[in-house]
Amino acid sequence: MSQLKELLTEQLKDLLHAETQLTGALPKMAEAANHPKLKEAFEKHLVQTQNHVERLRRSFELLGEEAEPKPCRAMTGLVEEGQEVIEEGAGKEPLAADLALIAAAQKVEHYEISAYGTARSLARQLGEVECARLLSHTLGDEESTDFLLTAISDPLLQQAALEDIGGDVNLESVPSDRTEKQPPRRQRKSQKTERGAA
Ligand SMILES: [Fe+2]
Repeated sequence: MSQLKELLTEQLKDLLHAETQLTGALPKMAEAANHPKLKEAFEKHLVQTQNHVERLRRSFELLGEEAEPKPCRAMTGLVEEGQEVIEEGAGKEPLAADLALIAAAQKVEHYEISAYGTARSLARQLGEVECARLLSHTLGDEESTDFLLTAISDPLLQQAALEDIGGDVNLESVPSDRTEKQPPRRQRKSQKTERGAA
């Protein structure tokens, strides 16, 4: 086997193990999510991930190789961290718990985006056009999931920032030398309103 084909096969074996682990982790992330849009995003990505496993199996067939998973320790670590985030989230505010879940999920997506990008380049170099097309399709799913997670996190971040400002606006707790540097109360209130409207 050529060294490039061997490398591609190894990458696909790693991805097969990574995706299989994710099909187990995503239902737990969906269950832990508080915001309905985040729950829906995890459920949608679970269906996509099942397709990713199928596309990998099809890629092995095209290459004439065994669809044999190779332990992906990186994904094992990311899934373990995701499990920790789920457990810690039980004691957090729903907003903070969701933002932590998104952070964990985006680490997973970025790992996959990197791995599929490399695998696609290898397939293209080898002239495995159909295999490259399948990998490209999955890469697109991972990128759009990452984009969706960012879109969901943006308003949650703004909401969390507003709550933090609300918690900090207490003039009695501010030392007198710092009070002088604070904008007038009315101005701060209007800033807060602007952020809320954004
Ligand atoms: Fe995937």
